[in-house]
Amino acid sequence: MSELVAYARQGDIGVITINNPPVNALSPGVPEGIIAGIEKAEADPEVRAVVVIGGGRTFIAGADIREFGKITAGQKERIALYPLMNKIEDSKKPVVMAIHGTAFGGGLETAMSGHYRIGLATAQVGQPEVKLGIIPGAGGTQRLPRLAGVAKAVEMCAFGEPVDAKAALAAGILDEIIEGDLLQGAMEFARSIAQKPAPKTRDRNEKLQDAAGNTAIFALAREQARKIRRGQTAPLAAIDAVEAATKLPFDKGIEREAEIFRACLFSTQSKALIHAFFGERTVAKIPDIPKETKTYDIRRAAVIGAGTMGGGIAMNYANAGIPVIVKEASREALDRGLAIIRKNYENSVKKGRFSQAIMDQRMALITPQLTYDGFEQADIIVEAVFEGMALKKQIFSEIDKIAKPDCVLATNTSTLSIDEIASATRRPQMVIGHHFFSPANVMKLLEIVRGKATSKEVIATSMNLAKKLGKIGVLAGNCKGFIGNRMIHCYAREAVFLVEEGAAPEQVDGALYDFGMAMGPLAMGDLAGLDVGWRIRQEFKHLEKPGVRKTMMIPDLLCEMGRYGQKTGKGWYIYDADRKPSPDPEVAALIEKAAREAGIERRKISNEEIIERTIYALVNEGARILEEGIALRAVDIDIVYLNGYGFPAWRGGPMFYADTIGLKNVLAKIEEFEKRHGAEFWAPAPLLQRLAREGKTFEAYDKEKEAMQAGARA
Ligand code: 3HC
Ligand code: NAI
Repeated sequence: MSELVAYARQGDIGVITINNPPVNALSPGVPEGIIAGIEKAEADPEVRAVVVIGGGRTFIAGADIREFGKITAGQKERIALYPLMNKIEDSKKPVVMAIHGTAFGGGLETAMSGHYRIGLATAQVGQPEVKLGIIPGAGGTQRLPRLAGVAKAVEMCAFGEPVDAKAALAAGILDEIIEGDLLQGAMEFARSIAQKPAPKTRDRNEKLQDAAGNTAIFALAREQARKIRRGQTAPLAAIDAVEAATKLPFDKGIEREAEIFRACLFSTQSKALIHAFFGERTVAKIPDIPKETKTYDIRRAAVIGAGTMGGGIAMNYANAGIPVIVKEASREALDRGLAIIRKNYENSVKKGRFSQAIMDQRMALITPQLTYDGFEQADIIVEAVFEGMALKKQIFSEIDKIAKPDCVLATNTSTLSIDEIASATRRPQMVIGHHFFSPANVMKLLEIVRGKATSKEVIATSMNLAKKLGKIGVLAGNCKGFIGNRMIHCYAREAVFLVEEGAAPEQVDGALYDFGMAMGPLAMGDLAGLDVGWRIRQEFKHLEKPGVRKTMMIPDLLCEMGRYGQKTGKGWYIYDADRKPSPDPEVAALIEKAAREAGIERRKISNEEIIERTIYALVNEGARILEEGIALRAVDIDIVYLNGYGFPAWRGGPMFYADTIGLKNVLAKIEEFEKRHGAEFWAPAPLLQRLAREGKTFEAYDKEKEAMQAGARA
């Protein structure tokens, strides 16, 4: 028996317990251990039925995702889970699967091979493989439609969302929900079915047979997958595999599933999504801040400013159950801010995301006011006033006088120096950037910006807090724009240059949308408001270099015409009452005229050039950010882009995307752009040059750095 799986007889029931923390993944040794447990139970005449249960916090959360990389790297042939499923299903004694936590992926597939499934009311089941760019690969696409019907199976396999115990019971995935102790309940259940015939899921064909109904289900699912999972191959592949269940006998269906699974596993999309999965967890690890670092309890918060960002930030705290004071400068701004918060919550209630009672609880946690009353009790104060250094410093010097000594002082600035803001206080070690993304109550990313004096405790507290607020916290160093906005500036610059050089705005946006971006850069500018950047540029006007091509010539001209974007009904595009954009001939004429006057030659531009110019601009700046230590790892940059800027997860983020193109190829293009457009914009980043020369990837760079740090610690 493997150490990862324990077997014990309890009276007439054989109990197999999986002990592979933290999530009981089917790592090498686990399938073998379960098989050995079944064999023991089969051989023991005292045993009448078997229970399989997870030790610790969950049932099996899936195959071990780390093994997939070994297969694609050629170090391993396959993870053979089919023998496990067959062994369970063919067991001579009935097998009851006892589920708590999450039975995901291979975990649900294991459960479906059993003859019965019971679970706690808090359990969840799901086939989330598509989120990793693969499909269920241990019989899920063949067994799930037999248990839950074709429509439910397609939904779960193609879109990957989990299903709670109640819904799983209704769908026929669970046979019973257990109140109280799961193991006791499972053993009682096992005794109650011990004498009955053990139903094999593979033989249950009755839910597969409505041919006409199935055709409609698959057609609709494909249409939805193309829309909701634009650009992704795995959802469509998962639908093909479930369709095979309705057309082929079970064993043939399994063969088809295995073929499709393998094709997906070797796809670049899957590698990218697996990179994103582990990346999301890697960013929480900060080499110089050990896990044991002391953190401050955040029980009360205060936010200054109830504008676009302050309101959304306050909602995050209320959503996490943390009382939050919101301070504004005027009654009018405060009322406006609170009305928007209320409207956002009302929309959520209308859409059924949560109940009116929950909305009321959250509203009650928010205290609007015009004074600093109560700030002395706050564990964190987040400043979200206008973007201006003088104002921010004034606010920080004010709160320095009021806040208790261990209060975290955070600023939501998107461009200004954390160190300079911190210099307005007598405790720069408590000051940190909490850069939320708009809309702050929705976007997952929180860039946590470390000043030169910020203490480790304040950083560790911020990383923990991000998780509590349901965000992905990524640590960044202090520089203009930090990770995300510093890079986006280069991307937006190229988008504008391409327009000046002859591409229509809709061509630039269209090419990047087709690449997979949530929206094109110019449409994004219209959404965020072109005036935001215009005002910031005015603040930094003294840094403009004479004789260098102006980067935001067209947006500046648009703003001068009062075309701020969606908010004024006009920007790069013209908007109708439903905010639907159309190209505007006035803008086309403006661009032509401005380009002519600036002596820019206009030409036909390919979509390929649009992608290369914009995305490689991100990569080149990303490489500098990495080399300067502003980002800890290349994957941190990727996670910023996937969660804050609408970069397609299935491309893995800009740095991973560059790896897939090959850094040599990326560098060659950048050198070409440097010749054509000048070193000011395109001088290759030294790190990119070095990695390209050494034939390496950013991913390898991260791994080497991690190994070096581990060595230094040892
Ligand atoms: N394989 C390997 N490692 C896994 C894993 C898995 N399936 N699931 C989680 N982990 C690791 C995480 O990387 C993390 O490691 P770290 O501590 O070193 O960073 C640790 O387990 C804890 O994970 P989380 O931080 O995510 O813990 P949470 O409690 O927040 O979430 C969870 C738990 C909901 C299970 C979440 O981890 C999750 O969604 N995991 C992935 C589930 C999944 O995709 N399963 C399908 C796998 S593919 C498959 O089964 C193919 C099959 O069809 C053949
Ligand atoms: P906003 O203009 O919508 O809101 C700012 C609010 O601060 C206003 O309501 C104003 O009345 C209030 N205010 C000004 N002085 C104050 C004072 N002394 N006390 C209390 N309240 C005061 O601005 P927005 O967009 O919310 O930006 C706030 C900060 O967030 C800026 O630093 C900005 O750079 C940053 N940011 C903005 C993002 C965006 O997309 N809008 C994204 C990320 C960061």
